Amino acid sequence: MDNQKALEYWKNLSKTPDLTQESVKVNKINNHYKEDANFILRFTDKNTDILDLGAGSGGALNLYYNKINFVLAVEKFKEFSNLIVRADNVAIINADIKDFDTNKKFDLVLLFGVMQFFNEQESKQIYTKCKKFLQKEGGGNPNY
Ligand SMILES: C[S@@+](CC[C@H](N)C(=O)[O-])C[C@H]1O[C@@H](n2cnc3c(N)ncnc32)[C@H](O)[C@@H]1O
Repeated sequence: MDNQKALEYWKNLSKTPDLTQESVKVNKINNHYKEDANFILRFTDKNTDILDLGAGSGGALNLYYNKINFVLAVEKFKEFSNLIVRADNVAIINADIKDFDTNKKFDLVLLFGVMQFFNEQESKQIYTKCKKFLQKEGGGNPNY
């Protein structure tokens, strides 16, 4: 899917009243926040710095943030990120993933439930950026 079209969908959704953590789930019966958080935590420890791209309402983030060192959440719509927990080790930036850049390096970059909203060309650009955001330019964990 072209991200511009997807952003229209997310923008409309962000303007609806009474947003909850589940609002960003396209299929409301498909809530796997606990499973997502537990999966993410398999790759972390107390020293891990995470970049959570398209963090939405923080459904998974709010469950894992207190077991890691730091997380930077990047989410286009403030209305969603308003539901992300406020804590000393949580930073939130409302930006488009395509424009977002930083010199900081992370141990883990997350794109949970996000890549289906980008076309092939956009996806290649995003994955290239993700590699740059990773400590040692990524390469994956040889244990997985
Ligand atoms: C299905 S939700 C997933 C949210 C969260 N990662 C999770 O697993 O619950 C997709 C999120 O990606 C965000 N998103 C889509 N395109 C984006 C873009 N170009 N920049 C920033 N966020 C974007 C949407 O606003 C939405 O919050």
